[in-house]
Amino acid sequence: MKLFQHEVQHRDERRINLLLKQATLPKISDKAFDWKDVQLAPGITREYILEGEFIKNQENLIFYGGVGTGKTFLSTLISLNVIKKQRKQAKFYTVASLVNALLEANEKGTLGKFLRQIEKIDLLILDELGYIPLHKQGAELLFQVISMCYETKSIIVTTNLQFGQWNNVFGDPILTEATIDRLIHHSHLIIFNGESHRYKDSISFNQ
Ligand SMILES: Nc1ncnc2c1ncn2[C@@H]1O[C@H](COP(=O)(O)OP(=O)(O)O)[C@@H](O)[C@H]1O
Ligand SMILES: [Mg+2]
Repeated sequence: MKLFQHEVQHRDERRINLLLKQATLPKISDKAFDWKDVQLAPGITREYILEGEFIKNQENLIFYGGVGTGKTFLSTLISLNVIKKQRKQAKFYTVASLVNALLEANEKGTLGKFLRQIEKIDLLILDELGYIPLHKQGAELLFQVISMCYETKSIIVTTNLQFGQWNNVFGDPILTEATIDRLIHHSHLIIFNGESHRYKDSISFNQ
């Protein structure tokens, strides 16, 4: 019986380690997340966000705010909870890295396989939408992924752009509108109002 329990525990640890490895999360600081300047949409709680409760309802989160306000930090903390507490699969991409991977898979004729991998993910992080405009094919492939996840998966998008500016990224008003439609249906907008912590941290670092 003891042996059996050990085996179960061992398997569970292996599963978590595998999920952590697959998630390719960025390294984050071990300091506590400061919610002071984070403005939640009405009707949701910090817990609901942080513990990844929203993935049970296939809801999306839009993190909007300036650089250094904690968007990547919070998405990583959520991913860690989704993996460790729910044993679910999270995957972190910057928008640029996902689009590059999609274009590459498309060129190599492995797009179908790549998309099937994405279909297994419970929480997809699309970090930094808006820093780089996308080429037509990249934008279309990104739209394909977002459509595929619609109402079946959760996505967190982090961005420094208001919706009205997303056209600059997608380069086509119809595609932009279709993308925003799918993302914001069943979603919560979280606004990061603070000053850049990077700046604050680098000042205290120098003192
Ligand atoms: N709300 C916050 N609470 C605590 N630390 C923060 C917060 N926001 C940012 N930081 C610190 O600043 C660093 C950069 O934040 P990051 O999440 O990369 O910002 P963003 O993705 O919004 O540009 C983090 O790694 C963390 O050390
Ligand atoms: Mg970031």
